[in-house]
Amino acid sequence: MSSKAAPGKLACVTGASGYIASWIVKLLLDRGYTVRATVRNAADPKKTQHLRALDGAKDRLHLFEANLLEEGSFDAAVHGCDCVFHTASPFYNNVKDPKAELLDPAVKGTLNVLGSCKKASIKRVVVTSSIAAVAYNGKPRTPDVVVDETWFSVPELSEKQKQWYVLSKTLAEEAAWKFSKDNGTDIVTINPAMVIGPLLQPSLNTSAEAILKIINGSSSTYPNFSFGWVNVKDVALAHILAYEVPSANGRYCVVARVAHYSEMVKIIREMYPNIPLPDKCANDLPLVPIYQVSKEKIRSLGLELTPLETSIQETIESLKEKGFVTFESGSNL
Ligand SMILES: NC(=O)c1ccc[n+]([C@@H]2O[C@H](COP(=O)([O-])OP(=O)(O)OC[C@H]3O[C@@H](n4cnc5c(N)ncnc54)[C@H](OP(=O)(O)O)[C@@H]3O)[C@@H](O)[C@H]2O)c1
Repeated sequence: MSSKAAPGKLACVTGASGYIASWIVKLLLDRGYTVRATVRNAADPKKTQHLRALDGAKDRLHLFEANLLEEGSFDAAVHGCDCVFHTASPFYNNVKDPKAELLDPAVKGTLNVLGSCKKASIKRVVVTSSIAAVAYNGKPRTPDVVVDETWFSVPELSEKQKQWYVLSKTLAEEAAWKFSKDNGTDIVTINPAMVIGPLLQPSLNTSAEAILKIINGSSSTYPNFSFGWVNVKDVALAHILAYEVPSANGRYCVVARVAHYSEMVKIIREMYPNIPLPDKCANDLPLVPIYQVSKEKIRSLGLELTPLETSIQETIESLKEKGFVTFESGSNL
């Protein structure tokens, strides 16, 4: 990776302590940027220590406190920046109050951040959206179907199915594009699927937990579901290229491969024969089919995606190193 590609540039990353954002901060520092990292509580070492420990952080990392739900909260952090990466948004599944916990922080938070960016005349804002805002439109998803950037999720469907996280990302991206159109703010969205790979932060995030649940003996079955998977380092780099490549525009799906849980288990079994793994599907229904996600547009930014097997291995090694799981070594790697 090119080091010190952008000496002197000033970037803001929102929700910087999170899984993906921490990697964006790391890669920005590696490329010579000065980084303003927003967190909700700068006094919480669990949210900041791993950022302060990054190479270059001592001289070029500045922490700002900001909350998505407080209007104007991001004004100070984005003022004077060359670019803003808006990544903060809650990602978890067991919600009691979808509006307060997911929808408002996602939608109002995005508009809040974009409002601050407009005031500060930010040249380009890279917004972390999701494949959740792309692929949930009721069209069949089968092995021969290629999902691409022309697909848009239909909010009414996820609302009906109570898929609150999917709805939050769909509405947030919709709001971002409307804001861009109404105000002339240049935005680019990055739309990854389930993000896996090494954790920089000390806490467990939702997508890494999906791998942990397969390997920690918590269930004798695996879900009957197929997800797209992608490496966190690729996702972070996609964000940065979306700013650095002047012609970058619109949305970018970032998905290495779609795989059913049964295949994830098979890959893990081959690499780690000593880890006890679930050996049957959670139900007797036909396996939810895989589908394809186009890589053409993300490749146009010069990004090649890490193979799924490598990403799984990096996730497992990281979960082990951070103490989320213990297992006998003796892998087939
Ligand atoms: N991981 C995935 O598989 C995946 C896939 C596609 C898209 N995404 C998107 O990527 C982004 C980051 O996800 P992640 O997986 O890295 O999640 P994460 O580790 O849980 O990070 C979420 C971040 O959002 C911040 N946040 C939540 N509510 C906030 C609020 N009210 N005000 C300010 N900050 C708030 C959190 O800040 P604090 O730490 O200060 O609480 C945290 O840093 C999200 O937009 C998510 O939708 C994730």
